[in-house]
Amino acid sequence: MNNILVVGGAGFIGSHMMKYLSQRGYQVTALDNLSTGYHDAVTGGELIQADLKNYEEVRDILKGTGFDGVMHFASSIEVGESVVNPRKYYENNVRNTLNLINAMMDQGPSNLIFSSSAAVYGNPRQVPIPETHALQPINPYGKSKAIIESVLEDYRSAYGFSATSLRYFNAAGADFDGHLGERHEPETHLIPLVIQAALGLRENIKIFGADYETPDGTCVRDYIHIEDLCRAHELALQQILGGSQGSSFNLGNGLGFSVKEVIEAVRKISGKPITAVVEGKRAGDPPMLIADATKAAQALGWKPKITSLDEIVESALRFYEGHYTSKDI
Ligand code: UFG
Repeated sequence: MNNILVVGGAGFIGSHMMKYLSQRGYQVTALDNLSTGYHDAVTGGELIQADLKNYEEVRDILKGTGFDGVMHFASSIEVGESVVNPRKYYENNVRNTLNLINAMMDQGPSNLIFSSSAAVYGNPRQVPIPETHALQPINPYGKSKAIIESVLEDYRSAYGFSATSLRYFNAAGADFDGHLGERHEPETHLIPLVIQAALGLRENIKIFGADYETPDGTCVRDYIHIEDLCRAHELALQQILGGSQGSSFNLGNGLGFSVKEVIEAVRKISGKPITAVVEGKRAGDPPMLIADATKAAQALGWKPKITSLDEIVESALRFYEGHYTSKDI
């Protein structure tokens, strides 16, 4: 079976990927600097604790290790933070990724799956958003992802480097046995925050804007379960290992749920009351982001299996019930 390096393997998506691949017989190794990841989230393979900021170090890690492919999840992910601290985003997401790609060029393997984001589309002109939509990011986070996507395009045509960029919509949920889940500090994502409110770990949930031009006035997002994401990565990996040069794909359910619908789903599944407070809009939030994932369906044979918001919320709730205590908040 293939030998895969999972960069960011101690983070939310990377740790699920480690587990998913190892359960399917892959040999996996995580590379993570543990700046936001957790050592105890790494399962199925060894952790190499290292940073991508030194090209030589990354090259030496790849030397002689016999990896067939690399999946790159390590990046800074907060849109708001990227606006006030763009340097962090260009260093972590652009410079460090270039180090990784160049080390792969020089040492092999030349097969990469890159975590991109719906943030590359900025304020979309068309929803659901197809991959052919112009990339017009509106914040440094989205720009950092779009820059790497164009680097990969150039490396594909100049050097025959194989790479697929996967543009995630809102990654959510947790593995079904409750061991792994989303742990960000500070937490900024909607589903974990609503669950914290349901578990009594925060007083309320703030709704950032209730007068958007959407059916109920709150922002609509396309929540995609972590297990569906992992399956898409494996399919994309097998496609490039099979000789494809790679491509860009949207990964989403094609379904939109509003902030109010997410709160209602957590109320229903947890059976707990949740106080919601309407606040002002958060800067840079597009009203509606929904994926058109037809290309991934056609080229990879990928279709999300977990399409109900209830199921996504249920898996996340199971994880948090087992992991959150008041000292974590
Ligand atoms: N929201 C609230 N209250 C909160 C937190 C969030 O109302 O306390 C709202 C946001 O305004 C937004 C929605 O809930 O409308 C979802 O917010 P998240 O922070 O959970 O996710 P985002 O859609 O902002 O961003 C996520 C990823 C990004 C990625 C983007 C692409 O975090 O990395 O999806 O769709 F770029």
